[in-house]
Amino acid sequence: MEGERRVRVGLLGLGNVGQSVARVLEENSYWIERKLGARLELKKVLVRDPHKQRPVPVDMITTDARDIVAHPKIDIVVELMGGLEPARSLIIQSLQAGQAVVTANKEVIAHAGAEIFQAAAVSNAQLAFEGSVAGGIPIIEALKEALAANRISCLMGIINGTTNFILSKMAAEGVDFSTALTEAQRLGYAEADPAADLEGHDAARKIAILASIAFETRVSDDAVYRQGIQAVTADDIAYGRELGWTLKLLALARRHSETVEVRVHPTFLPNDHPLASVHGVSNAVFVQGYPVGETMFYGPGAGGDATASAVLADMMMVARRRLSGGKELGCTCFDQFPILPIATVETEYYLRLEAADKPGVMAEIARLFGKNAISLNSVIQKRSIGSDAEIVLVTHRTPEGKLQNTVAALNTLACVKAVRNVIRIERGQG
Ligand SMILES: NC(=O)c1ccc[n+]([C@@H]2O[C@H](COP(=O)([O-])OP(=O)(O)OC[C@H]3O[C@@H](n4cnc5c(N)ncnc54)[C@H](OP(=O)(O)O)[C@@H]3O)[C@@H](O)[C@H]2O)c1
Repeated sequence: MEGERRVRVGLLGLGNVGQSVARVLEENSYWIERKLGARLELKKVLVRDPHKQRPVPVDMITTDARDIVAHPKIDIVVELMGGLEPARSLIIQSLQAGQAVVTANKEVIAHAGAEIFQAAAVSNAQLAFEGSVAGGIPIIEALKEALAANRISCLMGIINGTTNFILSKMAAEGVDFSTALTEAQRLGYAEADPAADLEGHDAARKIAILASIAFETRVSDDAVYRQGIQAVTADDIAYGRELGWTLKLLALARRHSETVEVRVHPTFLPNDHPLASVHGVSNAVFVQGYPVGETMFYGPGAGGDATASAVLADMMMVARRRLSGGKELGCTCFDQFPILPIATVETEYYLRLEAADKPGVMAEIARLFGKNAISLNSVIQKRSIGSDAEIVLVTHRTPEGKLQNTVAALNTLACVKAVRNVIRIERGQG
């Protein structure tokens, strides 16, 4: 810190989020300084390509990380490069040098969180990562501070805007998956390579971070059960609607007594669930805890400016603590609870299958469920497809393993052409 009232900032990355951070830091400097009682001064910016036109003075630009990381004239390192490396190494080096670090990088926190928190603890350095989950929604601070006295039992989130846009469009217009994806790409809501969003990797990283904070146990992204939205059809969405449900890519984390359940997959929610009305690219996180009860956090889950809102607030928070000598909260993963294997997780299921359209078939299918001790809530014949019939089955709560065995057995029945889709149903109980 120069004198008492200046905090010097170095940015690693000047892309979507970095440019918004640099611009808003300038535009809102008066209010930021008034609230913080100090000036956040942007000193250096690391980029890959030094020849690109940049909205900051040329002498701020560097391609050498050592101008920022562990540099004695930088107090806060703001990592906005993305990806695992070199971001992870640069964050750790900054923390080891005693610099405060702010990042919006979910990949690094979800995958290398334990190591990063350890580096921060050893050098008593500050680490903040609000922008890494749900863009502009202040969910991490809410879980860490505002809800700190609660025992959180369940988190349910729509935390990937791309997939929520696609599913909302399929539901509103009856279009198929690829049409909705093309539209998302045209509008800039989906990357040219959208795999990380569609396959649920992005949501898995975010729910791993939220579950670690909410349940005080380390959840790594690769421990999260994950299934993407590619197999969802407009028919599934329409049949769900007839049954009073909305389809979402749900990220769910639930605490059991000594285990944690964490999963991301397409899920039917009752239409009156608060998350069912979250449409388009918006994000929301629904939290159940004691004593608070049910709360929901809603807002823009991505975008340079929305994420800059979270990053700048983190920068102000770490600067304030640095100036006041306040203690950092640090890592709160006190436990090491195992993650519940997906085979033992219990939900209700929707199944859509094609079977021969002739007498006795429904009874044969129902008999198989009975034999596997799965109770059926409803069996509905939807329409004829040539000589076959499309059938929708809804089960009562049953363990996943039992359901998967039954699906395998269904596929061997001569009368069943194929099980086309299996979608879990959540009623929202903690
Ligand atoms: N975009 C969003 O809506 C959003 C929302 C929430 C969180 N985030 C997270 O925020 C972070 C930044 O996202 P973004 O969308 O701003 O990314 P981006 O537009 O791709 O920008 C990345 C920036 O980092 C620089 N960079 C990347 N690798 C580098 C390297 N090895 N050495 C030096 N500079 C390097 C790039 O330099 P060049 O300019 O020279 O290429 C670019 O300026 C990511 O972790 C992302 O997950 C983004």
